[in-house]
Amino acid sequence: MKTILVTGGAGFIGSNFVYYMLRTHPNVRIVVLDALTYAGNFQTLEPLLGQARFRFVRGDITDRAAVMRLFDEERFDAVVNFAAESHVDRSIDTPEVFLKTNVLGVQVLLDACRAHGNVRFHQVSTDEVYGDLPLDRPDLFFTEETPLRTSSPYSASKAGADLLTLAYYRTFGTPVTISRCSNNYGPYHFPEKLIPLMITNAMEGKKLPVYGEGKNVRDWLFVKDHCRAIDLILQGGRIGEVYNVGGHNERSNLEVVRAILHLLGKDDSDIIFVRDRPGHDLRYAIDPTKMRTELGWKPETTFETGLRQTVAWYREHRDWWEPVKSGAYLDYYKAHYGDA
Ligand code: NAD
Ligand code: DAU
Repeated sequence: MKTILVTGGAGFIGSNFVYYMLRTHPNVRIVVLDALTYAGNFQTLEPLLGQARFRFVRGDITDRAAVMRLFDEERFDAVVNFAAESHVDRSIDTPEVFLKTNVLGVQVLLDACRAHGNVRFHQVSTDEVYGDLPLDRPDLFFTEETPLRTSSPYSASKAGADLLTLAYYRTFGTPVTISRCSNNYGPYHFPEKLIPLMITNAMEGKKLPVYGEGKNVRDWLFVKDHCRAIDLILQGGRIGEVYNVGGHNERSNLEVVRAILHLLGKDDSDIIFVRDRPGHDLRYAIDPTKMRTELGWKPETTFETGLRQTVAWYREHRDWWEPVKSGAYLDYYKAHYGDA
């Protein structure tokens, strides 16, 4: 039995990864460490409580003593770090917590790996560390060699973590890998991000706030394909290497919003164009050649299928997202969108 520490496992991608690993690897036991910030949802993991191959620990990755204690208690074969502040708009309002969790938290985890016999460490990073690409150059893609050129406090903090991770490999020999993935979508996605916000707003009969003119392009990947990519990197990725993960699924924001409305049988009348995000990245597009040639990975879910499944999931799981959208979340929402 191998034990994997999944930090941030109560969030969107982390929870999908926990379910994916437990389903596909009968010889894997998962320990989740999650601070349960506004983005962590314990309800997502509740069905796993009491199962022998699962343990949940509430804790903060920046709490060095607690992290070291957990590493003393368990013998981790690998750590996969999803724990992060992940929303670009929030990083513009409050950068500090992004630096604390996304950089200093990673340092604590790397130190814990080092102090416990050089445990394998996988850092879940993002394509946003490469900055953006122009809208009029569809021939350009991010490769692993593209220079880091960040735009937001969020992406700067993720780039800092990547550099720190590679520095621990070079200086201390800590066995690390990094994946830089494009935009994910799917079940358990917190409804502050574009796709779940638009699906749930449309279901509630609310306005759909599109930034600027809605021309910015993102490269969408169904979350399960990301989980499989991380699994393959854990199994066969080369230590000290970075892997870009993405599936050539570029869509403008307006195209995405219209596709959601179409699936819900609605017209465009609730779309509103609101103030643009400061420093808004224009286009992300991943070149996933290294994942394909070295690890045999390619996405299995098309955008059409994935989006249909995602809309269906939100239709069937009002009990998951309705409580999330009430309470404190509303204060944040109002600060950003006023009464829209
Ligand atoms: P999320 O915001 O949904 O989840 C983050 C989780 O981390 C939450 O459960 C939260 O409680 C936990 N967390 C936050 N601070 C913590 C701390 N100090 N200690 C312990 N736990 C803490 O994020 P997500 O969208 O699932 O993203 C997960 C990771 O993947 C992030 O590192 C993000 O940068 C990266 N990523 C996300 C995307 C995407 O499209 N969502 C794409 C590429 C990479
Ligand atoms: O590329 C990977 C990144 O994708 C991850 O590293 C981040 O953690 C994740 O949040 C995501 O970042 P984005 O900024 O691309 O995602 P978001 O869902 O916030 O926005 C997607 C696009 O939609 C972006 O161009 C901004 C736009 N947008 C977003 C919101 C929330 C709108 O037009 N209206 C909105 O209300």
